[in-house]
Amino acid sequence: MVTGGRRLEGRLTVQGAKNSVLPLFCAALLTRDESMIEHVPALSDVDASLEILQALGCGVRRQNKTVTVDPRGLNDSGIPRVLTKKMRGSLTFLGALLAKTGKATIGLPGGCPLGQRPVDLHLSVLRQMGAHIRVTEDALICTAPRGLHGARIKLRFPSVGATENAVLAAVTAKGDTVIENAAAEPEIRDLCRYLNACGGRIKNSGSVIRVRGVSTLSGSRFAAMPDRMEAATYLMAAAATGGSLYLQHACPRDLTAVLAVLRQSGCQVGVIRDGIFLQAPERLTAPGKVKTAPHPGFPTDAGAPLSAMAAVANGETEIEETVFENRFSHLAALKARGAAVRQEGRRAIVRGVDRLHAADVTCTDLRGGAAMVIAALAANGCSVIGAIEHLDRGYTAIEQRFSSLGASIVRVRE
Ligand code: UD1
Repeated sequence: MVTGGRRLEGRLTVQGAKNSVLPLFCAALLTRDESMIEHVPALSDVDASLEILQALGCGVRRQNKTVTVDPRGLNDSGIPRVLTKKMRGSLTFLGALLAKTGKATIGLPGGCPLGQRPVDLHLSVLRQMGAHIRVTEDALICTAPRGLHGARIKLRFPSVGATENAVLAAVTAKGDTVIENAAAEPEIRDLCRYLNACGGRIKNSGSVIRVRGVSTLSGSRFAAMPDRMEAATYLMAAAATGGSLYLQHACPRDLTAVLAVLRQSGCQVGVIRDGIFLQAPERLTAPGKVKTAPHPGFPTDAGAPLSAMAAVANGETEIEETVFENRFSHLAALKARGAAVRQEGRRAIVRGVDRLHAADVTCTDLRGGAAMVIAALAANGCSVIGAIEHLDRGYTAIEQRFSSLGASIVRVRE
């Protein structure tokens, strides 16, 4: 329940990145001894991943923000659908399990409903490396009877998940792998760094990743990068309420496109090595045309929060979504608050209004849910937001963190 209309002011420390720790947990399967992953956020997607590791027989210890994964007990290569349907990130276990055990059976995964979300790139990558894959109605059944081998892979699209699977499969494969048109998202950089700290031989130059297969990996201690999507969400929320925010443990370099849009909207944005300061103007200016794109472009995950911010900016913002087919299911709920929004194919056109009003709405997906919260914080009156389990997948204690910035927001029911 959110009572809007208050400026957000204060400081926050950004959590470790969900989209980095999930592949790091998969990678920890590949090593011969324990790894310690630090800066692990408290999120339901993290809980789901740890549950999968335990179901596979791995030891998992969680102490505050540090998770120790011991892969020595690994005794299974199948992940049932009840576990994988909780999150799409579970697809990344495929490459790691195949590499480690020569087989992997995983229930077809869930995740946010953002369109078709096919798995062809994941399967093509693994097949090129020697995997045999059978797709049934609800599972992917993979074997690599003679082990995985290196390959020259050119991705049709720089898919984050398929790039992660390729790296995980390649790091202990026989021979060399080259991944062209690889995803250049910072979370992939984190994965490669961790694997190299474990003894991997990976050269990651962004869109091309070269991997020389090694025979074994040892465990290591690794701190996950800051969550750039959490950072973008809090910055946009502060901007939408005319507030000011200092974000600690943020990585400005990973947020260049987001910070550019905030500046175009009239915010003052200062950056120091691991911090970002934002001061919003009295009224935001619409940033104009923004097109989502793979990194270093404007991230698709920040499109929904931007639409909520644009709903109170002066002028018209056009957000073109180029990564997923359906990222606009939250727009109807924005309209319910009085936002002037229309959708034309893959474009959302948002004409800002002076003030949004309160409304009771339901989260449709993780980032669409974040847009709901931003809009409620910027609106007059009291809004109730339902289906907040979507938010808990990607934002730690969102109500406490917004409260600490002066918002009136409480969790009424789980
Ligand atoms: C990851 C992120 C997600 C982010 C997305 C894009 C995680 C856990 N999730 O998702 O937050 O929004 O990157 O930055 O890290 N595609 C295919 N075939 C495939 C795989 C993907 O056509 O086999 C398409 C998808 O349908 C989509 C596009 O490629 O249109 C991008 O998807 P991808 O980069 O794979 O996203 P995820 O890894 O699922």
